[in-house]
Formats: sequence, structure tokens, C-alpha cells
Amino acid sequence: MSEKKCPLNCEQLEKLTEKFPTPFHLYDEKAIRANARALKAAFAWNPGFKEYFAVKATPNPYLMKLLKAEGFGADCSSLPELMLSEAIGLSGEEIIFTSNDTPAYEYEKAVKLGAIINLDDITHIQFLEQCAGLPELVCFRYNPGPLKGGNAIIGHPEEAKYGFTRAQLFEGYRILRDKGVKRFGLHTMVASNELDATYFIETAHLLFDLVGELSSELGIKFEFVNIGGGIGIPYKPEQKPVDLTAVGEGIRKLYEKAGFTSLDVRMECGRMVTGPYGWLVSRVLHKKHTYKQYLGLDACMANLMRPALYGAYHHITVPGKESLPHDFVCDVTGSLCENNDKFAINRALPAAEIGDLVVIHDAGAHGHAMGFNYNGKLRSAELLLRENGEVVQIRRAETVKDYFATLDFEGLNKFTV
Ligand SMILES: Cc1ncc(COP(=O)(O)O)c(C=O)c1O
Repeated sequence: MSEKKCPLNCEQLEKLTEKFPTPFHLYDEKAIRANARALKAAFAWNPGFKEYFAVKATPNPYLMKLLKAEGFGADCSSLPELMLSEAIGLSGEEIIFTSNDTPAYEYEKAVKLGAIINLDDITHIQFLEQCAGLPELVCFRYNPGPLKGGNAIIGHPEEAKYGFTRAQLFEGYRILRDKGVKRFGLHTMVASNELDATYFIETAHLLFDLVGELSSELGIKFEFVNIGGGIGIPYKPEQKPVDLTAVGEGIRKLYEKAGFTSLDVRMECGRMVTGPYGWLVSRVLHKKHTYKQYLGLDACMANLMRPALYGAYHHITVPGKESLPHDFVCDVTGSLCENNDKFAINRALPAAEIGDLVVIHDAGAHGHAMGFNYNGKLRSAELLLRENGEVVQIRRAETVKDYFATLDFEGLNKFTV
């Protein structure tokens, strides 16, 4: 069983809290970069391979800038995500825009940036043409429906709202071809937090077969297949990370067998890029003993929603007490007036005391990003441990002023009842 570690020990974290009060998110640049290189190495056989970081996982431009330096593009699904990509200097086909139920102004911005447009539905061909014009390169998102088995989080593809059916793909590419579109891509995203390497190899297989069929039936040439994101991370200490080399090699074999030479393989992973390299650092505010033991933190769902939202497991350690017996069974709670505001239920921890630091692991994706302000709770700062050991703030914590920024208190004074 691998032991989950935070890159800073108890003493270093305590020192950090003198400058940055808890709770905060901490990311590790060195580990993020090493992991980015491992993903690229697994696909080094494919000269056109590119990973488009799924911005939604951790929409912080400082992290995006790091990833850009590693050669990653961005997978965006909203106007602000496109704007973040633009802000860090990504442009053109370094960006893929995969959206759902998309408003015209988002397509307009994506087309203006020269991003690859990945359409979610056949009706969007006309919608895009009318609002922004059809670009030279267009990609469709495929939903294989019953042709591909489900994944625990994303569910059965036929029940997912995303993408084109197989028949719609044939019809859609024909329409594009007849309208003069010259360059084509094919995308799918059928897994989320999947730890089985073969799942991704099968996904590539599905797309390779389809590219062959579409090309011969319609006489069009595909530039790339995008097998989506969805690579899982070992949230539980007994789980193992996906063997990226096995994924890359498995896909390479299929690629060669199919006789492709110039087809690019693309991915748009989010979770596996930053997830394991981010920690939510918090402090014990209260201990409570009623029918159960409770450890109350100064963090809450505003900082990390996954446990409350999905019952997701996040490993928790108490810095400085890692080697003590884990005999204190408790619920680790946040301060929302919601009974599901718990980071863990019946978790065996070392006997933590009020004032102790608590580290919640694997919070680097869908952590800060999913935060919300229910109950007037504020989102925490994000810090980055640089490769030289320095820690820099890459997003400040929200303040009450931020929370009230959309309210007009002057108007309230004039508002008579
Ligand atoms: C279209 C699309 N691409 C990529 C991703 C990234 O997935 P993951 O973070 O699981 O790698 C998502 C996640 O929701 C998505 O919806």
C-alpha cells in the first residue's frame, strides 16, 4: 500500500500558515511537470500527440502556464475558460472547444481564437455556421451509446447527454464535406476517473475503426482522434495509478495494425494532470462527541465538494502524527449547515487535537474548481510549491467583499418596502 505524502512536512506547513492562513490548496510544480512528461513520453511514438488540459479540472492560469511550457494545450468548455487560455498565450489549434448547449457568443469567441471546434450535436452545425461561420477544421463528439460499456462516474453512454450517435456522425461529416469543410477530427469522452488502462485502449480502437469507416464512405481524411480524458487517479492508498506506458503502447499497436501513419492522437485529461499533486490544507477547529466523534475543520464544501457530492474518498493525514496508531474513528466535517458537508465518514485517523493541521489529499482537480458559496462560505487561496522550494500564491482567498460584489447596497438603501 503506497503511503500518501504531502511535499511539505508539518513544520514546513506550520511555517507556511504564518503567511497564508488555512484553509488553502497547495500544488506541487515539480510533480505536475514530471507527470506531464510521463504522459507525453507514453505517446512519443505519435509525433502529433497533444494533450489538451481540461481547464475545468483546475482553472488556474498559473498552472495552465506551467502546462503550456510542457507543451499542453487547453480543453475549454466555456467563455471564461477560453479567456484563461488566451491570457496565458494559447491560441489557434492549441485550444479545443468542447461545449454543451452552447451559446452563440462562446462559439464566436472560440472561432475568433482559431480554436478547434468540437461539436456536441448535429444541429450545432447550422447553429455554428449562422453565429460564427464554419471553420476549416471541425471535430464531432461521438457518443457510442450501447456500443461501449459504461463507466462508474459517467454512466452508460446511451444515457449521457453528450455527443452524436453513430448515424449522425456519418450524416454530419457528409454535411460538413458538402459545405466545403476540409479538415476533420473525431472525439469521444466516455470515461471518468477510470483506472483500467484497457478502457482507453478500447476507446482508441473504437475511434480508429470509425475513422476508417467514415473516411472510406465519405472520402474525407481525418487529422486526429481525441480519446478524451477520464484517466483516473488512485484516491485510495491501495489503488494503483493507470500505467500510462501500457496505454500508449496498447494504442500504438492498434494504430500500426490499422495502418495509420499521419493520424494524430490527442487527449484532454484533467484529473490525472493535477489531481494527485494538489492538497487541501486545513486545521482542526473543533472536536465534538455526541453519538459519534467529529473533527471539525476550518475548510468545508466550498473548498472541496467531491466527498459530499459523490461520496468520493479523499485520503486524510494529520501532519506530524502519521506514524501514530489510527484509532480515532470520526467524521471529518466542514462548517456548512448541510449534513453532507463531511470530508470523511467513520475514518480512522490518529488522535487529532484542536489546532492540528489536517491534509486532504488528491485535491488538485475538481477541488477549488468546484467550490461554491452556499451559506456565505468563501473559497480558499491556491498556493504553488515551485521547483526551487519557494511557495507562491497563485490565487488569493475570497473575501466577504468578493462575496458581496454582485449586490448593490446603495440600491438597497433606496429600495422601499
Ligand atoms: C469533454 C471533456 N473532456 C475532458 C474532461 C476531463 O476529464 P478528466 O478530468 O476525467 O480527465 C471532461 C471532464 O468532465 C470533459 O467533459
